[in-house]
Amino acid sequence: MNLENNRSFIQCRKLSKTYHKGNHRITPLESMDLDVQKGEFLALMGPSGSGKTTLLNLIAGIDSPSSGTLKICGKDLSHLSRSLRTDWRAKNCGYIFQMYHLIPILTAYENVELPLLLNKSLNSNERRKKVHTALEIVGLSDRADHNSSELSGGQEQRVAIARAIVGNPSLLVADEPTGDLDRESASQILKLLKDLAIQHGKTILMVTHDALAAKEASRTLHLQKGKLLARANPQSSEL
Ligand SMILES: Nc1ncnc2c1ncn2[C@@H]1O[C@H](COP(=O)(O)OP(=O)(O)O)[C@@H](O)[C@H]1O
Ligand SMILES: [Mg+2]
Repeated sequence: MNLENNRSFIQCRKLSKTYHKGNHRITPLESMDLDVQKGEFLALMGPSGSGKTTLLNLIAGIDSPSSGTLKICGKDLSHLSRSLRTDWRAKNCGYIFQMYHLIPILTAYENVELPLLLNKSLNSNERRKKVHTALEIVGLSDRADHNSSELSGGQEQRVAIARAIVGNPSLLVADEPTGDLDRESASQILKLLKDLAIQHGKTILMVTHDALAAKEASRTLHLQKGKLLARANPQSSEL
């Protein structure tokens, strides 16, 4: 299959991001071409400062490119306003962070329910169903009433993944999701992400510094100074 086609789930063309700080210009991403197919689990590696988070933030619609185009599922995000990008993200993209970012005074259930509260068309029964489904997928149905102080790091990350998938987005971005976990918990999180791609058809971009974590992905990209270095495992067998 040709990766460089118009039907890629994510399509970046000459994508660049420049920040201006006083007289300084920083270009963390420079003229990047990238195609990601639906259901791919992509690992992004590269030294600190190479532009990995910048790329995730563009793809998640948190930030906008300085030039070039970014299309996701055929929709051009390049010129959308911040509020339209936020609307798009709420429906289409879940973000998973290294440090989970759960709200400690809320239970697992309440943390997962949070993004659904923004969707006024859902009643509490509909929300309950979705939260229970998400907690079931991450294997934490029995921890719904626990708050984060009562959960291990691996469990907290699984709650954060449930929160990311509860709105049924087709895209997940994860910034070093196993960076703060022991090997055993990390491998459970990686298995879960892999299942989300294979069984649930999610497209996943995961930043990682861990070569063992990257091995679980269907493809690994290496970034250096805002540019793509090489492609390994060009195509997932699941596609
Ligand atoms: N909002 C910002 N304003 C200015 N510079 C930024 C901003 N975000 C990132 N940068 C700079 O862009 C470069 C790449 O950052 P980043 O994408 O976070 O790298 P990585 O995630 O690979 O460590 C760094 O030099 C960083 O300081
Ligand atoms: Mg980063």
